[in-house]
Amino acid sequence: MTRGPGAGAGRSPAAHAGDTTRSRAGDKPGTRAGDKPGSRESDNPGIQAGDKPGSPESDKPGARAGDKPGSRESDKPGARAGDKPGSRSGGKPGSRGGAARSPRAGQRAPARGGRGRGSGGAARRRVGPARLVAFEVVRAVRERDAYANLLLPALLHEQGLTGRDAALATELSYGTLRGQGTYDAVIAACSARGLGQIDPPVLDVLRLGAHQLLATRVGAHAAVATSVDLAREVAGPGPAGFVNAVLRRVASRDLESWIAATAPDRAADPVGHLALRYSHPAWIVAAFAASLGEDAATGLGRTEAVLAASAGRPRVTLCAVPGLASQEELVAAGAGPARWSPFGAYLEVGDPAAVGAVGQGRAAVQDEASQLAALALTRVDVGAPDRRWLDLCAGPGGKARLLSGLAAGGGARLLAADVRLHRARLVRAAVTGEAGVVVADGTAPAWRPASFDRVIADVPCSGLGALRRRPEARWRKSPADVARLAGLQRRLLATALDAARTGGAVAYVTCSPHLDETRGVVGDVLRGRGDVTVLDAPAVLAEVPGLRCPGPDGRYAQFWPDRHGTDAIFLALLQRHPGG
Ligand SMILES: C[S@@+](CC[C@H](N)C(=O)[O-])C[C@H]1O[C@@H](n2cnc3c(N)ncnc32)[C@H](O)[C@@H]1O
Repeated sequence: MTRGPGAGAGRSPAAHAGDTTRSRAGDKPGTRAGDKPGSRESDNPGIQAGDKPGSPESDKPGARAGDKPGSRESDKPGARAGDKPGSRSGGKPGSRGGAARSPRAGQRAPARGGRGRGSGGAARRRVGPARLVAFEVVRAVRERDAYANLLLPALLHEQGLTGRDAALATELSYGTLRGQGTYDAVIAACSARGLGQIDPPVLDVLRLGAHQLLATRVGAHAAVATSVDLAREVAGPGPAGFVNAVLRRVASRDLESWIAATAPDRAADPVGHLALRYSHPAWIVAAFAASLGEDAATGLGRTEAVLAASAGRPRVTLCAVPGLASQEELVAAGAGPARWSPFGAYLEVGDPAAVGAVGQGRAAVQDEASQLAALALTRVDVGAPDRRWLDLCAGPGGKARLLSGLAAGGGARLLAADVRLHRARLVRAAVTGEAGVVVADGTAPAWRPASFDRVIADVPCSGLGALRRRPEARWRKSPADVARLAGLQRRLLATALDAARTGGAVAYVTCSPHLDETRGVVGDVLRGRGDVTVLDAPAVLAEVPGLRCPGPDGRYAQFWPDRHGTDAIFLALLQRHPGG
């Protein structure tokens, strides 16, 4: 790997590490340090809401009562698996026994005491490891900003949970985090205490219980009884009665009935209604509606379809690297041909890494709209020469992998840049052919202006288009993130345009449909210069049969989970011309 002058050269990796804090909020879900290239978008094994979890949970030998005396040491401050990088460690002051008793990576399963007497003297049933793991994930996300998609696999591994137990822990933790907005409204309606007055670990137990009662096929009796046991386990005997009372009330209606009872009226407050029904912050619902060109007057039909399509886990889509593998090979290996991408294939079951081409780095997991965005850049007519391509924000290398294969096949060479050293390393592992990789700040170019024929700027963004991939992400984002990122996005697009020669093409890509990150950024940057034409991106992609992807203003492309089964990815195709 080389370092780009101006950003990489002469700077230590530590200098780049300092940059990471600036760009972290724009990371794509599931693409942090240590993610294995090629498998980052894969999901944990999990059962879908409504599947019957395997119960009773089986306890694993070695995960029983008898925490070592020192096991509470893990409450000491210190980074844990799944912690958000840079997040504070250690439990919040006031966190209770749950923090000490529930499992963490590196810690054995908690004491469960078997069928003995609890601390309050009540008969105690054993809480199964799947529910304890799910509780710990929910608690850690709330308490120390852990990433569920990192913590859960670590805990499953630590506890030796596989098969049905792993599926149950996944469903309970992910489903609870996703549905938290809806469940909180229901819990508030069932509790004499406000949510803020409920001890946080007890609220976690209530949320887990509400999810089981309202969105899974766990029987009501089992859902309430196991939640009462869990409350006793993690918060002592006091709250068990409270949990029992609240969850019995929750169990008195089904989800639809609770939504009718707790959500704002659909006609009077459509955004508020959809926010509660689909468990999203209202500002995100409003952002989707704005991008879709909908408002209260026109109704929010598409917005609702997008929210509904975002509720499930994303399909695992593979991408064959041109020149190294093909869609046909992936299909022969058991995947189904993708609907849109000529390189894509859907893997309905199984581990992507078990597919030979993926295991050998000749294919990888990649959202289909990401594939199309990269493909679109290569389809713009730039005349000659067409030898130098640039990926300005390449880490962890999904689009760079595909572009490097396409470049190699057409006699071109890709240069892939990322400001973060560890991300650049992932790119290095992903690309093929003659591709070069540099650690470089895209806002302070390490290359001569106007020296590339094609440039892609897949900028750090809020990730609102990929909320399906991280169950807690929707609750972590804020409008302030969007505003902060838009400044960086404008600077990166400006340098991407400067890097393209006259006649050269630039693809500006976000994994967010928020207008302030898409149309707003492109409009702001183009207002300041007269040397850029906005191309008709959907028309450039017309070679894809049946694909309709008009975005805001028509000339941009916008993909959506309901229409395309993809992340909500935005694409602007721009071309430099003399002038300005
Ligand atoms: C959305 S991700 C890119 C995803 C990538 N194109 C792919 O398909 O896998 C944005 C990337 O931009 C990088 N980045 C953030 N600020 C940057 C900057 N100033 N210059 C270059 N890269 C930057 C981040 O480290 C991150 O890897």
